[in-house]
Amino acid sequence: MRGIYIHIPFCARRCSYCSFVSGMPHDKMRLYVDALKREIDDRLVCGDDISTIYLGGGTPSVLYRGAISDILSAVRSKARVRADAEITVECNPDSVTDDFVAEILSADVNRVSVGLQTDNDELLKRICRPHDRAGFLRAWELLAPIKNKSIDLMLGLPAQTKEDLLSSLSLATLSDAPHISLYALKVEEGTPLYESGFAVDDDFEADLYDMAYEYLISHGYERYEVSNFCKNDMYSRHNSSYWDLTEYYGFGISAHSLLGGKRIANDDNIDKYILGNCDRFVEDSDAASEYIMLALRTAKGIDLDRLRGYGVDLLAEKNRKITEYIRQGFLINEKGFLRLNDHAFYIMNDIICDLM
Ligand SMILES: C[S@@+](CC[C@H](N)C(=O)[O-])C[C@H]1O[C@@H](n2cnc3c(N)ncnc32)[C@H](O)[C@@H]1O
Ligand code: SF4
Repeated sequence: MRGIYIHIPFCARRCSYCSFVSGMPHDKMRLYVDALKREIDDRLVCGDDISTIYLGGGTPSVLYRGAISDILSAVRSKARVRADAEITVECNPDSVTDDFVAEILSADVNRVSVGLQTDNDELLKRICRPHDRAGFLRAWELLAPIKNKSIDLMLGLPAQTKEDLLSSLSLATLSDAPHISLYALKVEEGTPLYESGFAVDDDFEADLYDMAYEYLISHGYERYEVSNFCKNDMYSRHNSSYWDLTEYYGFGISAHSLLGGKRIANDDNIDKYILGNCDRFVEDSDAASEYIMLALRTAKGIDLDRLRGYGVDLLAEKNRKITEYIRQGFLINEKGFLRLNDHAFYIMNDIICDLM
């Protein structure tokens, strides 16, 4: 059983904080999609058992009509996509149209992730998003036939107040989104936001996160990963498979794969990719460290037996540190799993570093 990630590096415009490989010129779109189909045909193992597919970006909803169906057909003509496979497409409100929804429905897409970020129109303008609150509501209505939907929100945006975040959370919960991703803003070097000199206030971000956590829990959501909340077990199967070290293919520029115990990274040069000359960087995956790092971000935590299978007896090797974190109430060791206590997520990175 494997997953597939497909990277779409095009956007309507570039957001001020974004450091993803995105915003490529639209005149390269058709050639890029052709190259994607060739990569899928070359690298996907015939008859491979596929349980999740994720088209992310960038903004897959800005693709020309027919592109998403063609890409998914290329996958299906090679692999065995399970009848109950989770197939997600990321979209931005401004590019969700009738045609887009009709196309993804006919291509059997059964999950969408919508980038709202904030419902404050002033803030949206400030971070260069092309949609507004009303545009999100229009898109959400058009997407009604798809039940499995997620909303992306951000916290720590420039000038964002607690009230702004509460208003966005309220819109997301009133929209009855079964899944909400909540990302703390990272100011990445090279972005216009970084160049503007804006710096994140870590303490304020931690307060915003705590407030959002309490809000979502009190509205019936569970936190199953530090940035991911869902209702009625509607967690993202694709993202959960990353945290579980399930193997996956990554197609497209800058996409990563985990296959046969190797991490494979595609280069991000679109011109070389279109010509079929994508450079790939391969390294052995370090299953034990990756598992500790990823599993501790989840509510379930680290399966200590499974980690022993990767050659690490964590309780024995880090006994002193783990005992201390348990004594302080930050870690819980229960039923064979080591996990963070609910209120320890804000020091998660320190704990992970200590356990590596
Ligand atoms: C790569 S984007 C693609 C989705 C879509 N293009 C969009 O922006 O809505 C996935 C999500 O990552 C989050 N994100 C992007 N840049 C970020 C940053 N610098 N810090 C925190 N979250 C970020 C946003 O919430 C975004 O929805
Ligand atoms: S729309 Fe998404 S991927 Fe595109 S620039 Fe904005 S954050 Fe990045």
